[in-house]
Amino acid sequence: MKEPAITILGIESSCDDTAAAVISGRKILASIVAGQEVHRSFGGVVPELASRAHQQNIVPVVSEALKRAGINAKQLHAIAFTRGPGLMGSLLVGGSFAKAFAMALNIPLIEVNHMQAHVLAHFIEPGPSPQFPFLCLTVSGGHTQIVLVKDHLDMEVLGETMDDAAGEAFDKAAKIIGLPYPGGPMVDKLAKSGDPKAFPFPFPESPGLNFSFSGLKTSFLYFIRDKVKEDADFIEKRKADICASIQAAILRILISKLKKASQQTGIKEIAIAGGVSANSGLRELLLKEKEHSGWNIYIPPFEYCTDNAAMIAITGYYKYLRKEFAGQEVISTARYQL
Ligand code: KG4
Ligand code: ZN
Repeated sequence: MKEPAITILGIESSCDDTAAAVISGRKILASIVAGQEVHRSFGGVVPELASRAHQQNIVPVVSEALKRAGINAKQLHAIAFTRGPGLMGSLLVGGSFAKAFAMALNIPLIEVNHMQAHVLAHFIEPGPSPQFPFLCLTVSGGHTQIVLVKDHLDMEVLGETMDDAAGEAFDKAAKIIGLPYPGGPMVDKLAKSGDPKAFPFPFPESPGLNFSFSGLKTSFLYFIRDKVKEDADFIEKRKADICASIQAAILRILISKLKKASQQTGIKEIAIAGGVSANSGLRELLLKEKEHSGWNIYIPPFEYCTDNAAMIAITGYYKYLRKEFAGQEVISTARYQL
């Protein structure tokens, strides 16, 4: 069936990336992400600074996306924006901009759940896209979920973290050994030349398909503290092995719950999404599981793993097809269940 070529502008501003993308049908014409360097020296995102940077960036980022897409704003059919979850001050900037722009152009406004959008990044062309029903492990800096995806807009959370998110576990471990924020990508890079079995960390128990990472963080903190007491240069000398070992411990938790979810549901269509799905160790483990468990694995292109507006635009597309439009009274929301 031929899909209609609807052109949508997507806007994402839930955390510390200001992003805009233009989609035509399911094809991305342009996707721009402006990161915010301002947080680096603070070792984490400072909400007040994030919303200010969004205000500075939003107009240039949207203009650039339209320019690169070769689209005049008058050609847009709708504007989709991240309504939540996220940092309130950040969400308000993208939300207010989207409302004003949709009103000025007299076109529909579409509100998008950021977590749903991470999952739907799998449907951006050229694919391949998973078949329904599938399981999606959504792992980011703020969330860790196993989602049963029954249809584009019909999702059920089967399990989620009870404390820290997987990305947070990476970032906190990185911070403990003095790596800059966000530490996940750096841990990934250093882990490649380290031994994942060098330092074993305990496997924290958590009920059902839920996750827990805070115990691991605490044991990592104590482990490093004790080792540094014995040898002040411990971190410098063993950095790669430390990164490989903590990464292996985080990934073991993720994979074990994903296996459990697959066994419980009988589903072998397995997708990953969110910033941590950029992790090369996770990708390798999943490909091994493809051999062992007969899973079909779906991993989004790197640029659609971390926060971006292409995923907001594709979600907008599916909502547009169902005419799920928002009124001007729609409000941003820091918490937003799937
Ligand atoms: O999805 P995302 O861009 O933003 C949120 O919605 O949170 O995810 C950001 C998270 C950060 O915690 C970052 O450290 C982590 O994803 N991350 C990684 C990698 N790339 C990004 N973690 C491990 N390995 C990576 N390669
Ligand atoms: Zn995200």
